[in-house]
Amino acid sequence: MSNSINRRDFIKSGAALGGAATVGGLWPNIAIGQSGKIKVGLMLPYTGTFAQLGVAIENGFRLYLQEKGGKIAGREIEFFKVDDESDPAKAPENTNKLIQRDKVDLIVGTVHSGVAMGMIKLTRESGTLHIIPNAGAGAATGALCAPNVFRSSFSNWQAIYPLGKHVYDKGQKTAVWITWKYGAGEEAGQGFKEGFVKAGGKILKELYLPFPNVEFQALLTEIASIKPDAVACFFAGGGGAKFIKDYAAAGLKGKIPLYSSFLTDGVLEAVGNDAEGIETTMHYGDALNTKKDNAFRLGYAKAFKMQPDVYAVQGYDAAQLFAIGLEAVKGDINNKAGIIKAMEAAKIDSPRGAWTMSKAHNPIQDIYLRKVVGKENKVIGVAHKALADPARGCKMA
Ligand code: PHB
Repeated sequence: MSNSINRRDFIKSGAALGGAATVGGLWPNIAIGQSGKIKVGLMLPYTGTFAQLGVAIENGFRLYLQEKGGKIAGREIEFFKVDDESDPAKAPENTNKLIQRDKVDLIVGTVHSGVAMGMIKLTRESGTLHIIPNAGAGAATGALCAPNVFRSSFSNWQAIYPLGKHVYDKGQKTAVWITWKYGAGEEAGQGFKEGFVKAGGKILKELYLPFPNVEFQALLTEIASIKPDAVACFFAGGGGAKFIKDYAAAGLKGKIPLYSSFLTDGVLEAVGNDAEGIETTMHYGDALNTKKDNAFRLGYAKAFKMQPDVYAVQGYDAAQLFAIGLEAVKGDINNKAGIIKAMEAAKIDSPRGAWTMSKAHNPIQDIYLRKVVGKENKVIGVAHKALADPARGCKMA
């Protein structure tokens, strides 16, 4: 049987020939799980404030596939795409499109923590293999961890926890925290606060606005009146770019240093000089100058005519992770236990640097300290070596 016939066609053609017994008689040695295309569902934001992030993740995934000649473990990949719009209310319906309608073998999704929580509920129930290529929701690899759910990115706590100590060590003893009021913003706030307060710092105020609102003016005025030593925030994508610009326009740049995790990723072309000097912690950065990263960046720039960012790396690593699983079972997608076992033992040779999988299925990875210099999130140090998320409440950990 040719590789280009997918599983549904195979079953259909079997039915046309008179049922299962005939199929077995015609192709006695071919198990259904080892032939045909593998169906990969991409549930990502393609519109809204995180649209660029979704595109970068898909690009990263496709780049890896391209490097492998379009096949993983000898199997072609067929994509099924859903725009989740970063809307948690639509998460159940969108996830079910992929699980029930398209019957995908793997779901890769998503960016927004609230949407990811809606997805997990259904992928846990159905047992569909699920790789989260961004969303940092703690519960995904914490209280709601599951054998079939993996993350190729970070936890909201993990990316920013090391920042608190760094800010304090720079001599800034008080801070205001500002973010969108939803899972990722709140969990990032807890992570920053934990590190900052443990070091001796004091949070003067926490400021929130609804996701994906970008009317920052009133809150920036409030920050100016509080006069903290530092401001730390969680914003990302288009909303992040607007925050950087508004912070400078409000006259705060150069007066009160601004810190974050994701704020400056994928937006430096758009914000010009307004981001110069912003320090962030993150599991990827520019100018790492390793063999693996240099090759990745060259390949990405060639394929997509733009520079990769942390989101592209997470998409690339989602594909690498899946490939490790599928290759271990020689392409037999029905051997889910074998795939999971190999993914759990994976050592990922990532553009970010090598990482391993925690028992809760979250990367154990170095968190870098970065500073915006020109158009780069330049890596200036390692803020925390091989940091693992505490995986609170995960029974597998
Ligand atoms: C999240 O919602 O978990 C999230 C979104 C965008 C980011 C990081 C985390 O850049």
